[in-house]
Amino acid sequence: MMKKPKVFITRRIPDSGLNMIYKECDVDLWDQDLPPSKAELLTHIAGVDGILSLLSDEIDSKVMQAAGKNFRVISNYAVGFDNIDVQTATKRGVAVGHTPDVLTEATADFSFALMMSAGRRVVEAEKYVHAGKWKTWGPSTLLGVDFAGATLGIIGFGRIGKAMARRATGFGMRIIFYGPTADPLPGMTKVDLDTLYRESDFISLHTPLTPETRHMINTEAFDKMKTTAVLVNTARGEVVDQDALYDALKNHKIFAAGIDVTDPEPLPMDSPLLTLDNIIICPHIASGSRSTRENMANIAAQNLLAGLRGEPLPYPVNPEVNEEV
Ligand code: GLV
Ligand code: GLV
Repeated sequence: MMKKPKVFITRRIPDSGLNMIYKECDVDLWDQDLPPSKAELLTHIAGVDGILSLLSDEIDSKVMQAAGKNFRVISNYAVGFDNIDVQTATKRGVAVGHTPDVLTEATADFSFALMMSAGRRVVEAEKYVHAGKWKTWGPSTLLGVDFAGATLGIIGFGRIGKAMARRATGFGMRIIFYGPTADPLPGMTKVDLDTLYRESDFISLHTPLTPETRHMINTEAFDKMKTTAVLVNTARGEVVDQDALYDALKNHKIFAAGIDVTDPEPLPMDSPLLTLDNIIICPHIASGSRSTRENMANIAAQNLLAGLRGEPLPYPVNPEVNEEV
C-alpha cells in the first residue's frame, strides 16, 4: 500500500473539507483557537508533503525550507495570499492554491453592510441607545449620508469589487472604479485614482495587498477625499496607512470608515482607532457566512489533494508550477 501523504492543517476548518483530507492523508491538525507560533509552525511543517494554511500563517522561505524536499503544495484557506512568499514557492516547485469565487458574494455583502453602517452610523446609534442617551426623537440626532445618487469609487475591480458594484447599482449609486487590469461593466466608468478620490462619496477597497498597494491610502489620498466621504476596507489592513486613517477621522477630513481588516491583526487594544466614534472596526469576518466557509473548506481541500497528486490545482495561484514539468 502507498504511504499516505503527510499534511499539516493550521486550524480546524469546516468538516466537509476536513473529511476529504482525512480520507487521503496522514493529518497533523493544529486544533487550537490561536494560530501556531512561528516556532510551532516550523516544527510541525518539518517533513510534510503539503500544508493547509490560514491568512494568519506567514509561509515564508524559512518555513518552506523547514518543510523539506517532499513539500509540494500550500493550500491557503483565503482568496488573498499575501501571507505566502509565492515567488519562493514557485522557485521551489511548490504549488500554491487559494479560494476565490466562493467567497465573492459573502465578502461583497459584508462590504456593503459596513458601508451602510458607517454611512448611517448604525453602530454609534446602537451604542447611544445602550448608553441611555436616547431622550427623544431629534431632528438632528445621529445624521448620516445618502446613498441614492451618491458616487461609489471602487479600488480593485476584480470579482469582489464588481460584486460590490452590482449591489450599489440597486441603491441608485453611480459607480466609478480604479484597477490596472479592470474591464468596465456597463454604465460604470474607469477613472484615475485622483479622480476617484475627488469624486467619490464612498470609497471601497477590493485590491490585493502588493508592494504597489501597501499604504496606497495615505495622507495624500485622504487630503483629496471629500469631507463627507466614507471609506470601506475589507481588503487588507496594510493597504491603508493606519496613522493617516486615524488623523483623517479625528480631524474630520472624511466622514467615517468601516473596516474589517487592520494592521496588525488583531488590532491592539491601545490602538487610537478604538477611541473614535466615526469608525466601525470588525475582526476580519467579511467572508464569514456558514456556507461560504464550508465552500472555502471544500476548495482548500481540493487544492491540497490535487497538489499532493502532482495535478494542477483547481484554483491555482502559481499555475506555472505545473506547466514546466
Ligand atoms: C480573506 O481576507 C481572504 O483573503 O479570504
Ligand atoms: C420617522 O420615524 C418619521 O416618521 O419621519
